[in-house]
Amino acid sequence: MTSDLRLFLREFRDTYRTTGAIAPSGRALARALGRYVPPPNGSTAPRRILEVGPGTGAVTCALIRALAPSDTLDLVELNDRFASRLRERMAHDPEFRPAAARMRLFHQSVEELPREPAYDVIVSGLPLNNFAVEDVRRLLDVMRQRLAVGGVLSFFEYVWIRGLKALVSGREERGRLRGIAATMQALLNEQEIHRDLVWTNLPPAWVHHVRRKA
Ligand SMILES: C[S@@+](CC[C@H](N)C(=O)[O-])C[C@H]1O[C@@H](n2cnc3c(N)ncnc32)[C@H](O)[C@@H]1O
Repeated sequence: MTSDLRLFLREFRDTYRTTGAIAPSGRALARALGRYVPPPNGSTAPRRILEVGPGTGAVTCALIRALAPSDTLDLVELNDRFASRLRERMAHDPEFRPAAARMRLFHQSVEELPREPAYDVIVSGLPLNNFAVEDVRRLLDVMRQRLAVGGVLSFFEYVWIRGLKALVSGREERGRLRGIAATMQALLNEQEIHRDLVWTNLPPAWVHHVRRKA
């Protein structure tokens, strides 16, 4: 077992609500999350990218590969052990090295990030289905507010997860899951520009991409 998988399993046990997964995302999911990171139409203007909840950095590696040379990548991670692992990778990992000088790690909640300057692309790994409905609404709002107009937010959820959870849950939990579904659907109806279905992830996942209009 790799040390990152061990770390994930431990954090899943100790901080289940905010970790939300037993293993780092697979490569195909990471690539789909980074769909809007490469500059559009060969543009060379520097872009600001933010990854929310990078964990051990599985998605970060895909984002680094997609960055243009003048782009910057900020990471915001709440969990102490994941933040230490990311710091270590930024200092020593050859996969992080090409962008290390253009990366910053914020060890805090995404809600504490300053509103300005805005980001061109935000990639979120937050386990939204684990949170209360008000928290999901607030976190989605926070991320959209930190996007430049025209910027893209990409986030994922596991396929069928709410339906499967609802099957084994009581009334209150089913109400929470319905509230999250309605909150996400309202955003997707208004602003979704593309979605990817990643069958090869374990479990399979939807990746949603929404563009901030105004
Ligand atoms: C499902 S894991 C995803 C990890 C990684 N992106 C991946 O795909 O392998 C969720 C991550 O979000 C982080 N997280 C949860 N709430 C957060 C918050 N409010 N601000 C920043 N990070 C948060 C967790 O600590 C964890 O690293």
